[in-house]
Amino acid sequence: MNKKTIRDIDVKDKKVLVRVDLNVPFDQITGDISDETRIRAILPTVNYLLENNAKIILCSHIGRPKGQVVDSMRLTPVAKRLSGLLKRPVTATTDCIGPDVVAATGNMVSGDIVLLENLRFHAEEEANDPDFAKALAALADVYVSDAFGTAHRAHASTAGVTKYIPSVAGFLIEKEISMLHNALDEPKRPLTAIVGGAKVSDKITLIDKMLEQVDNLLVGGGMVSTFLRALGHDTGASLVEPDKIDLARRLMDKAKANNTNLVLPSDLVVADKFDREANAATCQSDKIPADSMVMDIGPKSVSAYSDIITKSKTILWNGPMGVFEWDNFANGTTSIAKLLASLDAITIMGGGSTSEVVDSMGLADKMTHVSTGGGASLKLLEGSVLPGLAALMDKD
Ligand code: 3PG
Repeated sequence: MNKKTIRDIDVKDKKVLVRVDLNVPFDQITGDISDETRIRAILPTVNYLLENNAKIILCSHIGRPKGQVVDSMRLTPVAKRLSGLLKRPVTATTDCIGPDVVAATGNMVSGDIVLLENLRFHAEEEANDPDFAKALAALADVYVSDAFGTAHRAHASTAGVTKYIPSVAGFLIEKEISMLHNALDEPKRPLTAIVGGAKVSDKITLIDKMLEQVDNLLVGGGMVSTFLRALGHDTGASLVEPDKIDLARRLMDKAKANNTNLVLPSDLVVADKFDREANAATCQSDKIPADSMVMDIGPKSVSAYSDIITKSKTILWNGPMGVFEWDNFANGTTSIAKLLASLDAITIMGGGSTSEVVDSMGLADKMTHVSTGGGASLKLLEGSVLPGLAALMDKD
């Protein structure tokens, strides 16, 4: 990574504004934090700043409150959990700018930690408003970006603020960038990408880019139907993106031209309705019954994909193979996750639902890297510039 990191600056006795991504999920019933991966992921940076006697001002968003104060999106529970993990106080403020925040951060001593309230309670955050960015920057001497999950957003706290104070990357950003780049730039081959998800339109750029880099590309998820239509097969009641059928055809042509092994499932798990309790049936991919829709890849496909995966040295996974949230349609996704966890290969999980799957199965620590950013890792793998990264100071 050609960006300066916290190792390159002096943070002793300095106020350091750290943008983190503490956008954690909450249990609908208990209201408790249901996955604290993103809180744990910032600990290396926070601990480094503590060891180097900095005054730490953390800031984040939760959810999409669209400029309104939404009580269920407050950062107070996160401050409590972070304090538990660090075994030291973390002071939560009631806003992220304004006189109370200036007062709360005014008399900090080295080792103090303040967590500002949800940045997105102000519409100016997402609008990348210069005055809002200036007000955030005014709280600190230096800025550290450690919010990989939000690095694809050009917001006041991810990009705007860097115009006013020296800005460097934290350890999470550094790790995410190097893991994702290393996997693709000089990969141990065979390199296999597993791409799933509901729609071709969400993953076009990724597939297009991957076809230039990988040896095998295994397709799963709802988007399979659009590819099957491009091959001229009936797809029953499945969701198809009619305007993407041509594109699916072009992607398959590109794979042939590049000599990339693009593989579609040979069999599928289908159902007659999109419902958790729907009966699952298995069929060949070119024989989907008229009243059925694609819900998962089938057992023969799991076995064929497993053969390819087992022979690979680097595997990158983005997007589930089916409706993994429902038991009847989870087999494709969970089988692939278990297989990846058992391999002695480089296994990179591309964030979002993919990370959710391996986390919920307790397999995260069996993978080489589980990204904390869904949208951000997708953008990075697509080859796009991440505004939150581009804005940081370059290495000399
Ligand atoms: C995420 O959960 O992917 C990040 O926190 C970014 O959130 P956003 O998509 O609302 O910008």
